[in-house]
Formats: sequence, structure tokens, C-alpha cells
Amino acid sequence: EKKIIIAIDGYSSTGKSTVAKQLAKALEYIYVDTGAMYRAVSLFAMQNGLINESHFDKEALEEKLPEINIKFVLNSETGIAETFLNDKNVERDIRSLTVSRYVSKVAAFSSVRKKLVEQQKQMGINRGIVMDGRDIGTIVFPDAELKVFMTATAKDRAERRYLELKEKGEDVSYEDVLKNVVNRDHIDSTRKDSPLRQAEDAIKIDNSNLTLQEQFDQLLELATDTI
Ligand code: C5P
Repeated sequence: EKKIIIAIDGYSSTGKSTVAKQLAKALEYIYVDTGAMYRAVSLFAMQNGLINESHFDKEALEEKLPEINIKFVLNSETGIAETFLNDKNVERDIRSLTVSRYVSKVAAFSSVRKKLVEQQKQMGINRGIVMDGRDIGTIVFPDAELKVFMTATAKDRAERRYLELKEKGEDVSYEDVLKNVVNRDHIDSTRKDSPLRQAEDAIKIDNSNLTLQEQFDQLLELATDTI
């Protein structure tokens, strides 16, 4: 049986990572959440005072890029890979709305993309990988055997993200979450370097009216047909 690369791209909070994780588990593939990597770099920039509401010191971040080490480590209890920034578990911190506010600015910076895309390509060298993000089918793995582009209405997406953050105990308002989702989509789609767009050979899935199970079934069928 051949091993393939599955690229899952799409707008913010479309549930890419949920279905990508399920798919990787079913196929016994590696799962990589590239958004977590951009989030970790953003957290680093925040912690080092390189970004705030009015200022982003790109030069300083560029200089410090070699000091940033991002890893995924499997939590043996949950079976879920967690994000580590310079050997510290940041899985929880990178999901905050504060990080979400800065991440698209940081991700638009070419030097950051260059570093992370390089690492992502390495991760897929033996194939057998499900990777989700914004530019996986277009830039990271243009030769992926299966490319999926996920969409849903902004309202559906913000609702899901809002419930997720609430569940984690974050004190956020629905309006702020919606604003953030719309704003990130705008920055991600209009940036110069590898903007978010559907690859020509990607299959579009609008999951506004799909249950998680239906969505998973669709994707698993696509994957097994491809393998
Ligand atoms: O997937 P997630 O919503 O966690 O990604 C956070 C942000 O990271 C996105 O809004 C986008 O700005 C950036 N990103 C990116 N390219 C990727 C994955 C994420 O630019 N491949």
C-alpha cells in the first residue's frame, strides 16, 4: 500500500484540524498542524516584546529566528501531539485569542514562512502525512496526492471557535471571536507571500451543514480512493 500526502487547507476555524486528526488516526499517518507552528512563532514574538497592537519589529524577529525551535511531542496519555516552543509545552498558550490576534501578521512575514515551510517539507519526506494549514496544497506540498479545501460560513466558524474557547475557560465574547475570524481570513487571503487560496486540483468541501461524522466519512472515502 502506498503512502500519500493529504493537504487540508481552508479558512480559519473550519474544523480542518479536527478532521485531519481523525483521518491521520484512521490511516495511521502523521498529523501536522501548521497553524500551531505560526502560533508558536507569534507567542515567541509576544514574549520577547517584538509585537504589540501598534508595532511589529520584523528585523528583530528575523534575527532571532534561528533561536526558535518548534517541535511536536506526543502526549502518551491523550495520544495527541502537543506543540513545544524551545522545549516548553505551549499547546495551551498558543490557542488563546491574544495569539490569534497577532498570528496572521506574523504569518505574513516571508522570513517566518520560509523557515516553517522548510521544516514542514522535511516532515513529509516519507509521505504518510496529513497536514493542515493555508498553503499546504499550493506551496508546501504542491504534489500532494489528495488536496482538500474546507469552507463554512463565517458565522458557523465563529460559533464553533467561540464554544471551543469558552470550554477552555477563556473569557471571550462572540463578537470578538467573529471579528478575529473575519480579520484573519482577510489578512491570510490578501498577503503577498503564499496567500490562502484553493489549489486548482483541490476538492472543495463546505461543511456548514455537515456533521463531524459525515465530514469524516467523506474525507476517508476520498483518501481510500486515492490510496
Ligand atoms: O490553523 P490556525 O487557525 O491555527 O492558524 C493560525 C494562523 O496561522 C492563520 O490564521 C494564518 O495566519 C497562519 N497560517 C498560515 N499558513 C499555514 C497555517 C497557518 O499562514 N499553513
